[in-house]
Amino acid sequence: MNAALWLTLAFSSDASAACTLCHLEIAAAFARTGMGRSISLAPVRDTAAFHHRGSNRHYRISGSLMRRHQIDAQGVEVNVVEKRIGFAIGSGNHAVTYVHRSSEGRLVQLPVSKYALDGWAMSPGYDRAAHLDFRREVGEACLFCHSAGRQPAPIDCARCHGDGAAHAAKPSRGNIVNPKRLPPQRALDVCLQCHLETASRGFPDSLRLPGRAAFCFRPGEALADYKAFFDRADGAGRFELNHAGYRLLQSRCFTQSPPGARTCTTCHDPHTAQVRKQSCAGCHSTPHSREPSNCAGCHLPKRRTEDAIHVHMTDHRISRRPVFNEPTREDHTFAPVDLTPFFFPAPAALLELARLRHLADLGRATPPDHRRWLALEPQSPTAMTALAVALLRAGEQNEAVAFLQRALLAEPRNLSALNALAVHHAAHGRYAPALDLLQRARTANPDHPLTWINLGVTFEAQGRRAEAEAAYRQAIRHQPDSSEARRRLQALRQPQ
Ligand code: HEC
Ligand code: HEC
Ligand code: HEC
Ligand code: HEC
Ligand code: HEC
Ligand code: HEC
Ligand code: HEC
Repeated sequence: MNAALWLTLAFSSDASAACTLCHLEIAAAFARTGMGRSISLAPVRDTAAFHHRGSNRHYRISGSLMRRHQIDAQGVEVNVVEKRIGFAIGSGNHAVTYVHRSSEGRLVQLPVSKYALDGWAMSPGYDRAAHLDFRREVGEACLFCHSAGRQPAPIDCARCHGDGAAHAAKPSRGNIVNPKRLPPQRALDVCLQCHLETASRGFPDSLRLPGRAAFCFRPGEALADYKAFFDRADGAGRFELNHAGYRLLQSRCFTQSPPGARTCTTCHDPHTAQVRKQSCAGCHSTPHSREPSNCAGCHLPKRRTEDAIHVHMTDHRISRRPVFNEPTREDHTFAPVDLTPFFFPAPAALLELARLRHLADLGRATPPDHRRWLALEPQSPTAMTALAVALLRAGEQNEAVAFLQRALLAEPRNLSALNALAVHHAAHGRYAPALDLLQRARTANPDHPLTWINLGVTFEAQGRRAEAEAAYRQAIRHQPDSSEARRRLQALRQPQ
């Protein structure tokens, strides 16, 4: 084994290090796969300059910094923002996306990614004028699928084999999960915990069952006891980056085969991630083709995906005549869709919750919808705040304030609740409590444009014009396309 490989292994998580001692070949093979390199904590050495036309922003990556600026009419650099790259997600087989960790501990996805196919380009979802730039917070979801655990580290043995401490201490067959010995659906579930996603954007594609925390799934248990999956009911599912599971489960090779014969490992070696030779021949004994080795070239073609247009993936919906049309631009239009459970049964309450959240995300939920949402998630500060905002719009102020206060008890740094309550106080002339709440919001997240706009409005109402102007400028720095901040700044500078 070469030195670089030892180095890779040395950087893998502590839990896997114990496995390496006795399963050296497997560990070495796995370390070379994309999964074994799914996260990189090494310092970034890239240098690149990149101009995004859609939003007219210039990006520069140098070492571990990503910087953005714009050029104003005088040719001067304005709206400069610079963030340190904390770690990288993605092996680079297809793409690498960078994540910033703020001093408050928030994880923020960075707007420019590196693609094997097209080089530097905007991260998925960012190729438009009003993108989220340095403001897209990524929660535990990315890490659940890309990391060994909550602390960023490459995917390790434990994600497929469970806790191996007892086995490492006293190796035997009985004290470690071997997916091969699980019932077929449970073996498939090991892979589907990360490889099943019906849609990356547009509607809530899955929800964890009540009481299940993000990292509590254990290999060997039923995925349906952990998560419920939803798909659009009209069947117009797209072809996306993480669609191996979603597409395979819809193919006839899967649906028409007995359960034991249809797992990911029917075709893939899990440790090398390679496709096994003859993986079609096991079921199709009389292939029609004179090119027996390239069945996949015709039946599982690679093409660009619809949610990330700079990668191409293998379409696992195996079909006679696969579709070859490829997207040339990102689609950002999301209409309301009806949702239905996908593949696994879903508890009725979770399906309703997904539908209600979907309506709320699109701004289409009514106060009664919000009440049903909160009834399904009585402890959720997000649900409380959303209901409060709907009530404020409907003029039901007292009840709204009570919900905002409850939300802030549950989550003192909830930006939406802090801002909504501050705006309510300011509208009634209570500037001191309003400013107090907005300072709290600013401390929780200094990059949030809405907080700066609300600060500006509150200062302005008190006649504190210089502070108002500074606040609007901060809003514009963080969100150069904020028409509201620009309009207010301009009005402020008009002679009275
Ligand atoms: C001290 C050496 C040693 C360590 C450390 C070790 N194993 Fe093993 N492992 C073995 C041996 C020996 C067997 C074969 C046991 C048998 O066939 O009875 C085995 C078997 C296995 C099997 C197959 C079990 C089955 O049911 O067929 C898996 C999976 C496995 N190990 C995973 C791991 C993982 C994951 C780790 C790290 C947590 C690990 N091992 C650490 C020695 C070790
Ligand atoms: C913890 C989440 C997770 C689990 C569990 C998981 N995968 Fe992956 N898998 C990923 C991610 C993330 C990638 C992309 C890694 C990259 O290239 O950055 C990936 C990539 C792959 C690849 C592409 C090739 C490569 O070099 O890695 C294959 C094939 C694959 N997985 C198969 C499987 C199979 C089969 C299973 C079940 C035995 C499985 N995966 C379980 C997350 C997971
Ligand atoms: C539900 C699990 C899941 C979630 C959530 C998820 N990913 Fe992935 N991601 C995957 C899997 C699996 C792959 C590999 C897909 C394949 O090769 O078929 C992948 C691929 C990628 C790749 C390309 C890696 C490569 O070179 O192959 C990048 C970059 C990436 N994801 C970034 C992210 C970021 C950033 C987030 C959070 C905003 C995220 N992903 C959320 C599962 C997930
Ligand atoms: C992506 C999921 C995944 C990861 C990560 C993974 N394994 Fe496995 N492992 C499997 C599956 C699936 C099997 C069953 C093999 C099969 O079905 O062909 C297996 C089988 C094994 C076996 C039994 C021998 C064999 O080949 O059947 C050993 C030993 C083993 N794994 C060790 C490890 C060690 C050590 C690591 C970490 C370096 C690791 N595995 C990481 C999925 C994984
Ligand atoms: C686990 C068994 C199994 C494996 C492995 C398998 N298939 Fe299939 N496949 C089937 C079954 C069963 C059908 C449905 C047969 C029917 O329609 O009568 C099918 C159908 C098909 C079809 C017709 C699909 C359609 O839309 O009508 C194609 C093409 C195909 N398989 C190609 C492949 C290729 C290529 C591979 C290898 C990459 C493969 N299959 C691997 C079991 C399998
Ligand atoms: C019928 C065979 C077959 C089955 C079953 C299968 N795959 Fe694949 N998979 C392939 C082929 C063929 C490729 C293309 C490999 C290549 O180009 O080297 C591939 C590629 C991949 C890749 C690499 C990224 C990409 O899109 O090219 C991932 C990830 C992957 N498969 C995950 C899975 C997962 C997860 C499952 C189970 C849900 C699965 N596969 C089941 C045949 C299969
Ligand atoms: C050059 C492209 C090409 C290659 C390579 C290829 N196929 Fe096909 N295959 C087709 C086309 C086209 C059809 C559809 C024929 C039709 O609809 O009449 C098809 C149909 C099928 C079907 C549906 C049933 C049938 O026989 O009509 C199966 C199963 C299948 N292929 C399996 C395979 C397997 C397994 C391999 C590899 C040994 C393979 N194919 C290689 C193009 C290809």
